[in-house]
Amino acid sequence: HVASLIVDPAYRIGEVDPRLYGSFVEHLGRCVYTGIYEPGHPSADPDGFRTDVTELVRELGVPIVRYPGGNFVSGYRWEDGIGPVSERPARLDLAWRSLETNRVGVGEFVAWARTAGVEPMMAVNLGTRGLDAARSLVEYCNLPGGTYWSDLRGGSPYGIRTWCLGNEMDGPWQIGHKTAHEYGRLALETAKAMRQVDPSIELVACGSSSRQMPTFGAWEATVLGETYDAVDYVSMHAYYQQHGDDRDSFLAAATDMDGFIDDLVATADHVRAVGRHRKRLHLSFDEWNVWYQSRFAGETHLEIAETPRLIEDVYSVTDAVVVGNLLISLLRHADRVRIGCLAQLVNVIAPIMTEPGGEVWRQASFHPFALTSRYGRGTVLRPAIDSPVHETQRYGEVPLLDAVAVQSADEVVIFAVNRSQTTPMALGVDVRSLSPARATHTALFDDDPDAVNTREQPDRVTPRALDDPELDGGRLEAVLPPLSWNMIRLG
Ligand code: AHR
Repeated sequence: HVASLIVDPAYRIGEVDPRLYGSFVEHLGRCVYTGIYEPGHPSADPDGFRTDVTELVRELGVPIVRYPGGNFVSGYRWEDGIGPVSERPARLDLAWRSLETNRVGVGEFVAWARTAGVEPMMAVNLGTRGLDAARSLVEYCNLPGGTYWSDLRGGSPYGIRTWCLGNEMDGPWQIGHKTAHEYGRLALETAKAMRQVDPSIELVACGSSSRQMPTFGAWEATVLGETYDAVDYVSMHAYYQQHGDDRDSFLAAATDMDGFIDDLVATADHVRAVGRHRKRLHLSFDEWNVWYQSRFAGETHLEIAETPRLIEDVYSVTDAVVVGNLLISLLRHADRVRIGCLAQLVNVIAPIMTEPGGEVWRQASFHPFALTSRYGRGTVLRPAIDSPVHETQRYGEVPLLDAVAVQSADEVVIFAVNRSQTTPMALGVDVRSLSPARATHTALFDDDPDAVNTREQPDRVTPRALDDPELDGGRLEAVLPPLSWNMIRLG
């Protein structure tokens, strides 16, 4: 296959908000307990956090982490997680049918976030609770002292800037699920009260829990009709997987993400027009990843376990290429999508895996994420793409090449995916307006597209440096291997 790109700094999409590279820690399975937190582990710091995990979190490059859920938050009493640990209650968590010991609460999470160098993004419970618990939590976290809740905290304020008004409140599985109208009213009044406590916070209203929800579009129109002026973002969630042997559709998942974002932008802008609002709403894509949900569909467990191994997906080279492509889609929408959270961070559908008492390792999907977060900072450029196409079952005709470029102070980086499972792609890039002196090419691919990293073979899948692409008279020539994620740096 032959494809071409024109990359020109004149075609700017927008600035990358570093929070586009966020992630998510939920009290779910082993994300917190034996994930980020495991007192007694050889690498644990005095607070019980695994420093081997924290090191990989830093390498992954996540500037913001959403917490504590997820479905978990809709049954959570945040007050259970404060005060002396020995006095905290162990509660039944209905979302994941687990025992929540509350050894980690908001204070411990903020302490971990500080050592990991990440900003916490906090969700409040609008399932079983509401305005009063939410405004008390903002008081506890952000006020300097001199009030009941802030004095209970002690120490310096947490200064949590970004807050989610509940989680997936459109989903019938959600504890305290609501209609759009019920949620819209509750979200508006809660937002107002939270801002009365701390006017500097930013708020995220719940959009749909997926594009496939029967209420998608109508939910957002109603919710934003109530909350538009009171919130800064509307959320979106999407998980992708390969269905059967239809790998071509799976490799084109980013075209679905593109459509989802475009639909939500249109809906938010419609509400803006109807309500004569001045500001433009931004999007918080605060859960996205590859997740083989179908594998867990029939899973039930009646026993209440403390740290069950739940949804510990193992990611292949193919999954990693899709993750890299989904990041290209997010970057392409950097003008409207300001926050993104790879769901989740450790063990639970995660780029980082741990063994209790033992090793930590990087999944295949860790690599395109870490490299995009590291090198995809600056201004997003829209390349002109000329690509061969092929037919997919789910998404019809899609291009075999997807790409975006990001310009920083000293280089332009092209992120590109070859979606062909069998055929290398000869890529020609018109770089006349950049006149680069050198180019390098890193790629993630493998003879076995199902290869994975495991505890025994943690570095089976890693990115490889390929031969430097040829640069000749303003034209760059590179070959993208079949089924590959690629990063070409032009300096
Ligand atoms: O990330 C796993 C779950 O997916 C979250 O708890 C929920 O918000 C979503 O449905």
